[in-house]
Amino acid sequence: MSPALFPQHVIAKKRDGGALTREEIESFVRGATDGSWADYQLSAMLMAIFLRGLTAAETVDYTRAMMHSGRVADLSGVKRPKADKHSTGGVGDNISLHLAPMVAACGVAVPMISGRGLGHTGGTLDKLESIPGFSVNLPLAGYQAQLERIGLCLIGQTAELAPADKKLYALRDVTGTVECIPLICGSILSKKLAEGTDVLVGDVKYGRGAFMKDQAKARELASALVAVAAAMGTPMRAVLTAMEEPLGRAVGNALEVAESIACLRGEGPADTMAVTFALGEQMLLLAKVAQTAAEARAQLEAVIADGGALRKFREMVAAQGGDARVVDEPGRLPQAKMQVPLAAPRAGFVEDVDALGVALAALRLGAGRAKAEDRIDPAVGVNGLVKIGERIATGAPLCVIHANDEQALAEAAVLLAKAITVGDVPGVAPRLIGEIIG
Ligand code: URA
Repeated sequence: MSPALFPQHVIAKKRDGGALTREEIESFVRGATDGSWADYQLSAMLMAIFLRGLTAAETVDYTRAMMHSGRVADLSGVKRPKADKHSTGGVGDNISLHLAPMVAACGVAVPMISGRGLGHTGGTLDKLESIPGFSVNLPLAGYQAQLERIGLCLIGQTAELAPADKKLYALRDVTGTVECIPLICGSILSKKLAEGTDVLVGDVKYGRGAFMKDQAKARELASALVAVAAAMGTPMRAVLTAMEEPLGRAVGNALEVAESIACLRGEGPADTMAVTFALGEQMLLLAKVAQTAAEARAQLEAVIADGGALRKFREMVAAQGGDARVVDEPGRLPQAKMQVPLAAPRAGFVEDVDALGVALAALRLGAGRAKAEDRIDPAVGVNGLVKIGERIATGAPLCVIHANDEQALAEAAVLLAKAITVGDVPGVAPRLIGEIIG
């Protein structure tokens, strides 16, 4: 090892505000992958980066090193253009579940490697696993084969893919270094680019129920993601979307799967579908199967109307071992023992539905994880949730609580009653879809 590459020298250089060479960044990422840097050295380096930042060039080098810390999927056998979507995550965000089959039904392959919920509610994998038998644990070879066969595969991050991120994310989580744009860029893009997509669309959310609370910060992250992806040869566009109230009317794993099936039948909530179309349009445009947003929208509407998107979803569920009968009989999804409406305390208008408050109620019911090792209950959560601005009669349901535990039900009801405000003036939801970056 050359002396310049001793961990302590690389750490000190960044600590003092220096710009690291590609070799130095590669040595740090290799140190995370092969254990040649101790956890305390990796943690010190993460903090130095958090405090001093990375330049644009350093961020690209970091992302590339992270992406190549494991295997990169070889999707050369997939003859269709390939597009994926990444969301920074929100409450009731089930969009991947129905967007991926919609886009696949339009002739674009969707290679989607997703995460579990790190926040208050489950992630895409947790939602899919609520379908009896559905496996998200395909090895890369099985993932590649399914993409060649049906043009759609949704799996979890395998140990082979971007292992440096797994190590560094776990350290960031316990060292106060998560909220750092260059580190977030490297983390998200290393996984997404290793999965083999040609193009990528980002849903960067901001608001009470989002990872980024502030729109300016979300814009900064979106711009950085788009610039780094472009520098690595992957066209990317990011849509900024608001996350003040939950998306759609369901929060909870099986409940969101049922809502996604409704979306595929053309019966989805208006807000969920607005975001779905906005993201789907960009996927089809970047994949070059549509020339204009209007043309892309027409294609996405057509595959809902002719049942093609629903058939693609059914095909994916069956291919991954799931019970495809849930598509026609959502009652086959896990059901909670208690399903109790929460009554409106007065007549009026819904002034506010606080996404974070609803997420905390869902977490109390068991729909999410407080710690990484917690088990999720797939059946619990809320559905039939009112939306900001709606009129409501005294005693009419604000939502239906699905619970498996009396105490959790009582506590969730208190949290929900606090999160949903009914008053004399119809609330106005913030503009859902903001600017498109890239
Ligand atoms: N999601 C990721 O995958 N990584 C981050 O760093 C933040 C959000």
